[in-house]
Amino acid sequence: MTSQILRDARKYEEEMERRIAKAVRPSFHLSARVGWMNDPNGFSFYKGKYHLFYQYNPYDTHWSTMHWAHAVSEDLLHWENLPVALAPDMDYDKDGCFSGNAISLLDGRQLLMYTGVAKETLPDGSKREVQTQCIAVGDGMEYEKYIQNPVLDERHLPENASRYDFRDPKLWRETDGSYRCVVANCTQNKDGRILLYSSQDGFSWKYEGILAENRGRFGMMWECPDFFELDGRQVLLTSPQDMMPQGFEYHNGNGTLCLIGMYDKQTGAFTEQSNQAVDYGIDFYAPQTILTPDGRRVMIGWMQNWDTCTIHCDERPWFGQMSLPRELFIRNGRLCQRPIHELEQMHDQKVEYKNVMFTDVLKLEGIQGRKIDMELTIQPGDHTMYHKFAVRFAQNDTYQTSISYRPHESIVKVDRKHSGSRRAIIHQRRCLVKSTEKAIKLRIILDQFSVEVFVNDGDYVLSATFYTDPIVDGISFFADGLVCMNVVKYDLIDNYKKE
Ligand code: FRU
Repeated sequence: MTSQILRDARKYEEEMERRIAKAVRPSFHLSARVGWMNDPNGFSFYKGKYHLFYQYNPYDTHWSTMHWAHAVSEDLLHWENLPVALAPDMDYDKDGCFSGNAISLLDGRQLLMYTGVAKETLPDGSKREVQTQCIAVGDGMEYEKYIQNPVLDERHLPENASRYDFRDPKLWRETDGSYRCVVANCTQNKDGRILLYSSQDGFSWKYEGILAENRGRFGMMWECPDFFELDGRQVLLTSPQDMMPQGFEYHNGNGTLCLIGMYDKQTGAFTEQSNQAVDYGIDFYAPQTILTPDGRRVMIGWMQNWDTCTIHCDERPWFGQMSLPRELFIRNGRLCQRPIHELEQMHDQKVEYKNVMFTDVLKLEGIQGRKIDMELTIQPGDHTMYHKFAVRFAQNDTYQTSISYRPHESIVKVDRKHSGSRRAIIHQRRCLVKSTEKAIKLRIILDQFSVEVFVNDGDYVLSATFYTDPIVDGISFFADGLVCMNVVKYDLIDNYKKE
C-alpha cells in the first residue's frame, strides 16, 4: 500500500524531471532527479543491478523533510531513475527518512534500514527530533515499512547516549549468515561514537557495544559510518561534524575520517592503528561503500559541503550530485582510491603529448573540454626544481578553475574562486602530498560541474564542484620554472551501451 505522500512525490518528480534538459546536468555523476540531494543511501547490488538511493527533497532545491530517491545502474556511471522509494509518511518518520543502507535477505527480498525522525515536544514546549532505526522491505521498486518499526530506539542505547543523534545505519552480513550494523551516535555532550548491533534475521536487533569513540579528537557528532575489511585491514569511515583543522589533514567544518585498524569479530573490538582524511577537496561527505560482485570495494560520496550548499544559485531545478564511484585499496598503510575501471569504457578521442618542455603559459591543440579524463605527469625540466605548476580548466578570458602544485612545499591546491561565484564561501583547499618521487601525477576528471583529482595513483583525492557555464571549456598549463610534462587526455562520452 503506497501512501498519498509517496504518490504525490512520485507524481511530482516525474512531471518536473521532464523540464530539465540533460545538457545542464553532470553526465555520469548521479544528480538529484529534481530538487535537493544529499547523502548516498542503500548502495547495494540487487537483482543484477547496482541500486543507489539518496537523501531527497523533490519539492525544493534546499534540504527539508527527507525522502529516499532511487536509481539503478549496470555500470555505476549510467543511472536510471526509479520512483521515490521512501516517503516520510508514518508517525515514527513523519519528520524525515534519514540515511541508511540496504541488504539482500535470504528469501530474495531487499531490506532497507533507515533512520526515522519524529519531533517530540519537551516539557518546556520546545521540539526535538528523536531518531530511531526503521526497516522497509521490497522487491527493488516498491518497499513496505515493517509493522514493528522502529527496530532500534532508546532501549538499545548505551548509557549517556543522545537519542536525538542516533542515525545512519550501515549493514553487512557475517560469514555465519547473521547480520551486523553500525549506527552513528554521540554522548549527551555531543562526542561522536559508533555503535555495533547484531541480528539473526535482519529484523530483530541486539545492542553489542561501542565500536569506536571520538574522545574529543575529530569534531563532534560522527555521521554516516561504514565498516569493512580491505586488503587485510579493517576500515571505519565516518563523517564528523564541527571539525577543527589539524595541519593539512583535516579542515574546519564537516569532514571525512578514515580509521584503519584491526577487528576481532568474536569480541566485536576494533583496534585503531592510523587515521587520515578520505578526501582533501572542498566537496565530499557521507560516503558509502559496496562490495561489487567481482570483489571490489567501491565508494560513492555526496559531492557537496554542508557549510556552502545553502548558498547556491536557484536557477537550476536540481541541486546536489554524487562523486565518481571510486575503488578503494590500502597501499603503504593508507587508504587510496582510483576511479572505477568502467570509466575507461567512456574514453574517446585520445590526445597524447610526451616530454613537453615549457615555462610560463602553454596551450595544447586538442586539450579542452568539460567531460574529460586527463592524466598529467609533471617533472622538473632540468636540474633545478620549478616553483609552481598549474592546470587551468573551465577557462575563457573571464573564468578558470585550477589545480596547482608547489613542489618546494609539496602542496596541491584546488581553486575555484574564478568560477563565477559571488559569495564569500570556501573556494580553495590545499593538500600536503608526501612522496619521494620527483615527478607528480595528477589524474583529473571533469564532468560539467565538478573536478576530481587523483594524486600519485590515488594517494590523495581532491573533489570540488563549480558552476561555470559548460560552454567555457578551455584548458591551459602554467609553469613558474622549467617543467617537463606528459599528457594523456580522453573525452568521456556515452558509448558504454554500444559495446
Ligand atoms: C549527513 C546527514 C545524516 C542524516 C542526513 C539527513 O549528511 O546529516 O547524518 O541522516 O544527512 O539528511
